[in-house]
Amino acid sequence: MPDSPTPAFVVVLDRSDALVRSLIKAVEGLDDTVDVNLFTKAAEVDSLFATGPVDVLMVGPSEMTVTGLRRVAKWHAAHPGTVVMVACEADSLPDPQLLMKAGAEQLLKLPAGPAAVRRALLTALGVSEHLKDELTTVVEVPSPRAEEETVEEDLEEDFEVEEEPEPVVEPEPLVDAEPEPALTITVSSATGGCGKTFLATNLAYMLATGTGKRVAIIDLDLQFGEVVATLQLKPQRTIADVELDDEGNVDISALMTPHKGGFDVLAAPPDPVAAEGMGPATIAAVIDAVRMQYDFVLIDTPPSLNEVVLGAFDISDHLLVLATLDIPSVRNMRVFLTTLDRLQIPTDGLHLILNKAEKGVELTADDIQRVLGRGWDLELPYDREVSRSVNLGLPVSEAAPRAEVSRRLVAGVPMLLPEAGIVGFAPAQEMTFLARILSALRPRKEGAGKDAPPRTTPLPEEKTS
Ligand SMILES: Nc1ncnc2c1ncn2[C@@H]1O[C@H](COP(=O)(O)OP(=O)(O)OP(=O)(O)O)[C@@H](O)[C@H]1O
Ligand SMILES: [Mg+2]
Repeated sequence: MPDSPTPAFVVVLDRSDALVRSLIKAVEGLDDTVDVNLFTKAAEVDSLFATGPVDVLMVGPSEMTVTGLRRVAKWHAAHPGTVVMVACEADSLPDPQLLMKAGAEQLLKLPAGPAAVRRALLTALGVSEHLKDELTTVVEVPSPRAEEETVEEDLEEDFEVEEEPEPVVEPEPLVDAEPEPALTITVSSATGGCGKTFLATNLAYMLATGTGKRVAIIDLDLQFGEVVATLQLKPQRTIADVELDDEGNVDISALMTPHKGGFDVLAAPPDPVAAEGMGPATIAAVIDAVRMQYDFVLIDTPPSLNEVVLGAFDISDHLLVLATLDIPSVRNMRVFLTTLDRLQIPTDGLHLILNKAEKGVELTADDIQRVLGRGWDLELPYDREVSRSVNLGLPVSEAAPRAEVSRRLVAGVPMLLPEAGIVGFAPAQEMTFLARILSALRPRKEGAGKDAPPRTTPLPEEKTS
C-alpha cells in the first residue's frame, strides 16, 4: 500500500457495471488510501490524464476491443507511471500482443468477487509504488532530458506533443498518431420491418450533409442486408471480401462503396451464406477498422440478437431501437430491453424510436409507457413518402422535405445525437413529382459528387476511400 499522504488515484474505465459493482465493495475499507473514480467514456479519461498523474488505470470488458486496447496503449505510452490493469472474462481474453502494447501489468479475470478485485487492486498499487521509486531513481541519473524536465512533468505531458521515448518504458511508435474512433450509432429492433435500414440510411445522409465529416454505414445484416438495395448501389466488394493480415489488421478502404450522398457503405454480401465463415472476432476487427477511418459510423442490423450484433451494441455510443405501434412489436421491444439489461449491455446511449406511427390503432402513449416503463425518444409517422423516397434512391428528407416524417427527422435527430454537431441541415424545397422522376432517371456514377441530387449543404470535399 502507498505511504503517501494523498490517496492513490485509481481510474476505472468500463461501460458495463459488472466490474463496477464488485469494485465498489472491494474498496470499502480502503477509503482513506484509495481514491477510485469510475468513468464510462474514454474521452473523460483522456481529459483526466491531461490534468495530472493517475496511479492505476483499470480497464474493463468494454475496452477489450482493438480500438479500446490501442487507446489504452496510447495512454500507457504517454503515462508510463500509470499501472494498467485489465479486467475481462476468461473466455474473451484479447490478443496478448495488444495486451502487451497496452502495458497490462495485472489481469483480473471476470467474474470476480470483491475480494479478488481488492487483491488485484492492492497488487497494482504495490506495482505503482515500485514504479514511482524506479522513475525517481532514473531521474536522479543525469540525462539530457532529466536536466530539463522532472518525471512529474513527463507524466503530465500531453501525448499529442510527446515526441521522445520515456526513459523507463519505451513507448510504441505504432500507437503514436492513432485517431479517435468514430461516433458509432447502431440501429436495431426486435421485430423485422420496423424501419432500421430506412433510418440508418437516412441518418448517414443527414450526418454527411449536416456535418461535412466522414460518414460510413456498415450493413451487419449479413444474410439479408438491404442497405445497398435501399441506396441503389452496386458494390464491387462486401464485408465478406475482408482479409486480415498476420497481426489481425484490416485494410477496409478497398471494401467501401461510395454513395453520392457523401458517405461510404460497407455492404453485406449478396449471398446469405457468404459471410458464414466470418467469426465475430473478424467482424469486430472490421468494425474497429471502419471506426478508425471515419468520424461517424452507422451500423444497420438484422432483426435478431447474435454475438456480432451484441458486439456492435457494446462499442456503440448510441443505440437506436425501433418498434412499430402494434402489441407484438412493443412486447418484443420490452423483451429486447430486458435482454440488454441481463447481458449488461450499456444503455446510456439508448433511444427508443416509434416508427410508422398511425392514429386510431388503439394503442396509446400511456399503454406504451406502461409496457416499456418509458416513453419514446422520437416518433416518426407512417408516410407513403418513405417508400417513394426508397424507390427513388433518395433520403426522404430530400425527396419530400415537407412530409411530416422528414420534419420529424430533421428536428429530432440533432437532439438524439447532440455531440454529432449536425448543423445547416434545412430541408430543401419540396421536389415536384416531375423533378423526382428526373432525379431518379439521372445517370448515376457511384460516389460521384457531380451526379448528386440537389443538396442543402455541399458534399464533403474529402473522402477517405
Ligand atoms: N415511417 C415509415 N412510413 C412508411 N413506410 C416506412 C416507414 N419506415 C419504413 N418504411 C418502409 O417499411 C419497409 C421496411 O423498412 P426497412 O427495410 O427499413 O425495415 P427494417 O427494420 O430494416 O427491416 P428488416 O428487419 O427486414 O431488416 C420498407 O419498405 C420501408 O420503405
Ligand atoms: Mg433492414
